[in-house]
Amino acid sequence: AIFGSERVNSSGINIDIENEWTSFRDGVQKHMTRQWKKGPIIGGQPQETAAVTKVLSPYQRQETVGTIHWAGNADVEMAMDKATHAFNRWNQTGVNERSACLERLADLLEIHRNELVALCHREAGKTLHDAIDEIREAVDFCRYYAVQAREKFGAPMVMTGPTGESNELYLSGRGVFVCISPWNFPLAIFLGQVTAALAAGNTVIAKPAEQTGLIAARATELILEAGVPGDVIHLLPGDGATVGSHLVADPRVAGVAFTGSTETARLINQTLANRQGAIVPLIAETGGMNTMLVDSTALPEQVVQDVIHSAFGSAGQRCSALRVLYLQDDVAERIIQLLKGAMKELLVGDPALHETDIGPVIDAEALTGLERHVAKMKQEARLIAETPLPDDCDDGYFIAPVAFEINSISQLEREQFGPILHVIRYKASELDHILDDINDTGYGLTLGVHTRNEASACYIEERLKVGNAYINRNQIGAMVGVQPFGGQGLSGTGPKAGGPHYLYRFATERTRTVNT
Ligand code: SER
Repeated sequence: AIFGSERVNSSGINIDIENEWTSFRDGVQKHMTRQWKKGPIIGGQPQETAAVTKVLSPYQRQETVGTIHWAGNADVEMAMDKATHAFNRWNQTGVNERSACLERLADLLEIHRNELVALCHREAGKTLHDAIDEIREAVDFCRYYAVQAREKFGAPMVMTGPTGESNELYLSGRGVFVCISPWNFPLAIFLGQVTAALAAGNTVIAKPAEQTGLIAARATELILEAGVPGDVIHLLPGDGATVGSHLVADPRVAGVAFTGSTETARLINQTLANRQGAIVPLIAETGGMNTMLVDSTALPEQVVQDVIHSAFGSAGQRCSALRVLYLQDDVAERIIQLLKGAMKELLVGDPALHETDIGPVIDAEALTGLERHVAKMKQEARLIAETPLPDDCDDGYFIAPVAFEINSISQLEREQFGPILHVIRYKASELDHILDDINDTGYGLTLGVHTRNEASACYIEERLKVGNAYINRNQIGAMVGVQPFGGQGLSGTGPKAGGPHYLYRFATERTRTVNT
């Protein structure tokens, strides 16, 4: 069946066309020196709290992007009270009206695209290419969930039953949903979670990542402008240990959507299990130890292009990114040589420039962790290539893309969320052994396979516990409604974002039986 065929994804712009690039760049430029001042938004009102921090740009540590007020415990209480009281009314608002709000929001995101691109670029350090994709994905989530909600929440499903009785099954919102989103897709994942929860009839309290509160606040203003009532959506920027844990522990919470680390997902699960109140769902999308397997029938040039894109694109800061590349021994040397050449060509640096391939990582803590891993690998593994960093990178959190050859995936204790690739050579006779090794990591997010042997691709894909398998192409950049995204095991609970089953977990099912 073809799902969602009545809706198309946003078309974006082609910045490789001179005119499109210059008019886009001029539009974004207007927002490049702006200072944003944001904070919690509760009951439709911006809040000024005592805890205020300066927001600095990841690519230029001296550059302020604005200031953000962080929420405290009193804000959590106020938001929770309002969201709880607002639930019935929002849940009873027709799904057509809720979906219309999401579609108006999509339009507003497109109208304000240049400002949002500038914000994603300056607050999250995104390259302009990545920032455009980010806005497009956010727009697509809004329109996709609007259509999905109408389809699923519009009319009850009639169940056949005995004569003299009518039976119907229908979906309803659950209550107050807490949405905790990451910094790597500060607009798209933030809005993906929030709009799904809203479309299903829930009220929402959103806690964005500490690093990207300004983007979330601007998005929340647009949600309100799109017509979502002020007591239905609340934003609480703040740190996870206080705001996040206080929120999740509240017995009034009816569900949590979380994207971030596996460790934090575990903590949320424990808190939900131990608190008073209902037993509620956790929708978690977490990390990965994503692999690509390349056999001797693969096309080396295509492999290298897809490896570069998957491992180093967005500075490796995607949960889908390739971390471990398995090369069958007869093609390994050729691919490694090509990879070295391609890595030399990568341009790391100012994410505002058209030609930049790789921008900074998000902050000092991320950079230090990655540098520590690179230092360790330099001791324990064989260095394949390291892209030189240009001189002007000193003011930002830049790290050189690097590839190491290692012996086994078990040498990697945890996911490294940056542009670091590990390569392992294997013999055809070892295939089953490496598939076991990959499953033993416990992660199951993305998989790449490069082979011209269809049976081999099917075998590998079926043996591995993964959420998204990509054959003979790169393994990042899942498109809404095209490649529903999400993993299993340590990588998350499902359902898949941007897929036809996502809204179900935000809803409760009810059966109505009437004796006629
Ligand atoms: N959804 C993103 C991708 O597919 C990852 O977070 O790359």
